[in-house]
Amino acid sequence: MTIYNSKNITESFAAVKWSDGKLILLDQRKLPRDSIYLEYDSASDVADAIKEMIVRGAPAIGVAAAYAVVLAARAAYKASVDNWQTAINAELEILSASRPTAVNLNWAIAEMRKSFDSIEGDPETALLEVATRIHDGDIAANHEMGRLGAELISPDSQIVTHCNAGALATGGYGTALGVIRTAHRNGLVKKVYSSETRPWMQGARLTSWELQQDNIPVNLVIDSAVSSLMRAGDIDWLIVGSDRIAANGDVANKVGTYSHAVSAKYHGVKVMVVAPFSTVDMQIQSGEDIPIEYRSAEEITDFNGVRVAPKGMEAINPAFDITPANLVDVIVTEKGIVQDPDAEKMLAIFGKI
Ligand code: MRU
Repeated sequence: MTIYNSKNITESFAAVKWSDGKLILLDQRKLPRDSIYLEYDSASDVADAIKEMIVRGAPAIGVAAAYAVVLAARAAYKASVDNWQTAINAELEILSASRPTAVNLNWAIAEMRKSFDSIEGDPETALLEVATRIHDGDIAANHEMGRLGAELISPDSQIVTHCNAGALATGGYGTALGVIRTAHRNGLVKKVYSSETRPWMQGARLTSWELQQDNIPVNLVIDSAVSSLMRAGDIDWLIVGSDRIAANGDVANKVGTYSHAVSAKYHGVKVMVVAPFSTVDMQIQSGEDIPIEYRSAEEITDFNGVRVAPKGMEAINPAFDITPANLVDVIVTEKGIVQDPDAEKMLAIFGKI
């Protein structure tokens, strides 16, 4: 894998790696206290790991899924040498259904499938090459987005980010955090605010940890403090990643992004969405058609395994929300940037799929 900057913490850990014929995932539920790597040799176990948030973040889920296809192909070839392309389908369906919102999951499976017909004999080596290319491509895309996004940032900028769109959420380096890393390296960042991101606390546990490791000045704030910070004039940019971007520029991202974006608009704070092309879904016309994952009620009725809500209380737990394109100032991808996104500008950059 390409190493970009050995001084950077993002090379000292990896959310997803392949080693000795196995997929290795950093258990993100345990961070930052413990860095525990888990080994996988079956695609359906990887599907469980995606569901259970061991690996999370749209591009990281895509990279993990690509390697999971290699594992599925190994099992299918063992079961049926002549017909592995069909024997693999059941496992790939399980994988594909593991989480609904991040399109990178099914994008990666589709990319892997493209080479199935041309493979003769044991598919493992050929598929591993494709998966490695997807992984390396994601890291390279993040560096390019970092460069493009940082060009939009003025000196002394104060930035708020939500959830974790960093090295942990991607093949490496990060999308939103890739821009922040590059901008910081270019001397443009005064301070970053990381909103905690209820209920999984990706901002508190992951983003603040990643930025702290890189010596980027960061303060943790609760999600509902962000509007007041904006009102006080303490924020210049809201910079976030995305799980899926529709053809009209509507953006799905971690729940809470929409309210941050509404506040940003009200207070004149600029909004940047940073995501690779694999997150753009030109088949979906608008955010209304993006499937939103609803997770279990216990994630919000309980705290640290202890029930805090009254007995019998029902809870609604959407994991993502939609930020309409008119609240977004710029979408940054490795293929270029879209200012004030709309369907026409999106089509001009990404074309029809
Ligand atoms: O539920 P998660 O942790 O998978 O949600 C992750 C996010 O919403 C990220 O902001 C998004 O995937 C972009 S990651 C580069």
